Amino acid sequence: IRALTVAIDGPAAAGKGTVAKAVAAHFGFAHLDTGLLYRAVAAKTLTGMDPETAARGLAPADLEDPTLRNPDVAQEASKVAVIPAVRAALVRFQRSFATRAGGAVLDGRDIGTVICPDAPVKLFVTASPEVRAQRRFAELTGKGIEVTYESVLEDVHQRDLRDMSRDQAPLKPADDAKQIDTTEMAIEDAIAAAVALVEAKQ
Ligand code: C5P
Repeated sequence: IRALTVAIDGPAAAGKGTVAKAVAAHFGFAHLDTGLLYRAVAAKTLTGMDPETAARGLAPADLEDPTLRNPDVAQEASKVAVIPAVRAALVRFQRSFATRAGGAVLDGRDIGTVICPDAPVKLFVTASPEVRAQRRFAELTGKGIEVTYESVLEDVHQRDLRDMSRDQAPLKPADDAKQIDTTEMAIEDAIAAAVALVEAKQ
């Protein structure tokens, strides 16, 4: 198998993380959920730390914090993600991860557009806001986190808006990204489509 970089972008809870993990496992590539980086910065700013200081000082152990999946951290993540100095502090780590020898799958918002513009495989995974909110609601309640569907849908709308309208690295498909809409698609089919795209580059 030829090691290569796979860039997967899309809005919150579209299924990109699931697709990214499965593609990485299938080909033996490493996987980086880049949203975790912004969430880890957010977990620190929620305790009062300056965002740029938090981003510059990020350590691997910070990504293990179980509270990173909480909705308040997700909201804060999309706020710190607007700050250019925060994004700049995270670029080098993501690019070096992307170019590791064994191949890499990165999922996020700006992987195909900014972090890895030369990635040979780019995917943009979407789904309707309602379906994404339903999935995130099931995931959070499954973990014992108390939320309502309405609050999750509101969170999805707010983050979509903030992620798409920011000046730097806004959420949008790269010109050469293959779009996959998972609204009415089984996640297995989305994974199969992604695997086929990587196989086509072998
Ligand atoms: O993917 P996830 O929902 O964990 O991302 C949390 C937030 O981090 C997003 O709403 C977005 O604002 C930000 N993010 C980003 N660029 C990335 C990944 C995530 O701006 N590559």
